Amino acid sequence: MNRTVMLVDDEAGIRIVLGIALSDMGYIVHPAETGEQALELFRSTHPAIVLTDIKMPGMGGIELLQAVKRENPDVEVIMMTGHGDMDLAVRSLKYDATDFVTKPISDEALEVALKRARDRIAIRKQIRDYTENLELLVREKTQKLIEAERLAAVGEAIAGISHSIKNIAGGLKGGAFVLEKGIELHNDQYLYQGWTMIKGNVEKIANLSMDLLNYGKSSEIHCRICDPNQPAREIIDLMTPLAEASGVRLEAVFSTALQSICLDPDAIHQCLNNLVANAIDACTEKSPSDSPGTVTLRTLKTAGLGVEYQVEDNGCGMDEDTCRKLFQSFFSTKGSKGTGIGLMTTKKIIEKHHGDILVKSTLGKGTIFIMRMPESPRL
Ligand SMILES: Nc1ncnc2c1ncn2[C@@H]1O[C@H](COP(=O)(O)OP(=O)(O)OP(=O)(O)O)[C@@H](O)[C@H]1O
Ligand SMILES: [Mg+2]
Repeated sequence: MNRTVMLVDDEAGIRIVLGIALSDMGYIVHPAETGEQALELFRSTHPAIVLTDIKMPGMGGIELLQAVKRENPDVEVIMMTGHGDMDLAVRSLKYDATDFVTKPISDEALEVALKRARDRIAIRKQIRDYTENLELLVREKTQKLIEAERLAAVGEAIAGISHSIKNIAGGLKGGAFVLEKGIELHNDQYLYQGWTMIKGNVEKIANLSMDLLNYGKSSEIHCRICDPNQPAREIIDLMTPLAEASGVRLEAVFSTALQSICLDPDAIHQCLNNLVANAIDACTEKSPSDSPGTVTLRTLKTAGLGVEYQVEDNGCGMDEDTCRKLFQSFFSTKGSKGTGIGLMTTKKIIEKHHGDILVKSTLGKGTIFIMRMPESPRL
């Protein structure tokens, strides 16, 4: 392609002589008689180099230069000038001509100008290759960085899980020890104590594995048009027995003005489950002399067409420090009873829906979690 030259001159003699010289130098030559003809030929042959007379009847050399540069700014255009055309020659350089050669044209001058054109083409190609390589390099590096971040997050998650498992294993070991003592000493009280410890820890490990499974699942959401009250209703049915067993009243206040919207109802169910379980825990943390624990699950219509879920409790509340940390992975104040996955998962699910979650809490008074979901998660 670099070796294709379009030769434009209105003088047949020059076209013949230069055509022969160019062919001898190894170029494929496309001759044209006028600027107009040249432009047409340019569009069909796409030469890398154009060698054109500067003064021609009709479309002049500078006009042709501008026209071909508009079509392809990378084309190299060498102007052929007569004596006294210096002004025109200089003007052509302003329009990014590669060079100009003065008639009568010697082979040497022509070769120098053509070499210059080929060098410019080669440099441009080098720059383009280099830029492409650079882009590739940047993409690779970014990918590696993302990978490293992901690995760091996995490391952090494994550390948290190991910590929880270590606690549970400790509890199981303790339980087994007490149980063994009970067998050894025929002591029913030890037997009962040991068994209770083991049972509690088996429950914990079952919960932990469920949490981890749910956490894995939460990476994907599957939205569909649904009644936003539906997951809330399910939670009330599911959690009422648990709340009652803990002496906590669970209330439902659902808006009747809500329209169906696009949500993942299973994921929302999971979020509400976490929030209500936390609220019941918070109520059981209070001293028995306080007013009875109440948890209220509300659904409300938001200003747009979305939905707001609220989970309010009059439980133990939180200090500022806890409020700041509660969405962090594996943050829990419940010792071996909590894994600290609940709110982290909840937040992740809400973010996937492009919604948001906020919390207001007063230590000793209670807490409200507000989940706002947009009408459509714009997936
Ligand atoms: N309604 C609430 N009232 C008071 N404290 C709360 C409430 N909800 C959350 N918290 C605090 O936030 C912490 C993190 O909650 P999160 O649900 O993530 O974990 P968890 O309940 O400890 O464990 P799990 O993974 O089993 O849910 C809790 O340990 C608790 O200290
Ligand atoms: Mg929780």
